[in-house]
Amino acid sequence: MKRGTNFHPDTTPLARCIARIADIVGQELDEAEILEMGKKALQDLIARDDWLPEFCAVPDPNMYRQYLLYCDPLERFSIVSFVWGPSQRTPIHDHSTWGLVGVLRGAEISERYVVGSPMKSVQTERFEVGAVDAVSPTVGDIHLVRNALNDQSSISIHIYGGNIGVIERRVFDPDTGHSKKFVSGYSNDRLPNPWRTVAKLT
Ligand SMILES: [Fe+2]
Repeated sequence: MKRGTNFHPDTTPLARCIARIADIVGQELDEAEILEMGKKALQDLIARDDWLPEFCAVPDPNMYRQYLLYCDPLERFSIVSFVWGPSQRTPIHDHSTWGLVGVLRGAEISERYVVGSPMKSVQTERFEVGAVDAVSPTVGDIHLVRNALNDQSSISIHIYGGNIGVIERRVFDPDTGHSKKFVSGYSNDRLPNPWRTVAKLT
């Protein structure tokens, strides 16, 4: 398959996922139900790796990238492609909303923390392609994520219960537990067209 930053694949799987999440957040569901149903939608999205536009898969040599793929017009959810260069990692951070993390390429490690001085690591898990993790203020919201691979990029697809790029969140100093507010923003200034299907002659 010809690839390059101008390669535009058939994005139908992304459009299907958007529709499913819009349907889920439009119902009166509790958070556990949203996470369970959203997990299935994300598992289906990452079950194949032929739909992510290349410009949302480009690593940066200095820092992980977060490319917005779609944001709900009512900001009830957003879908983001996280691209990790070799060994790149986040600081310890929270989310302030529910989130689902599914590995599309490579592998990543999530280390969960509870607030303390120093911060206390309580769980470390490795996620391979196809695996989905969940975060929220209810199920555990503070973690550090890193690329499990030190010789290649990894990509994970994230779904959050809000427009995650504008939500005020916290990063934590690992030694003191002191927190600072941050707003992550996004790395991209152009978006994929989720409804771009490949033309067919019949
Ligand atoms: Fe996170």
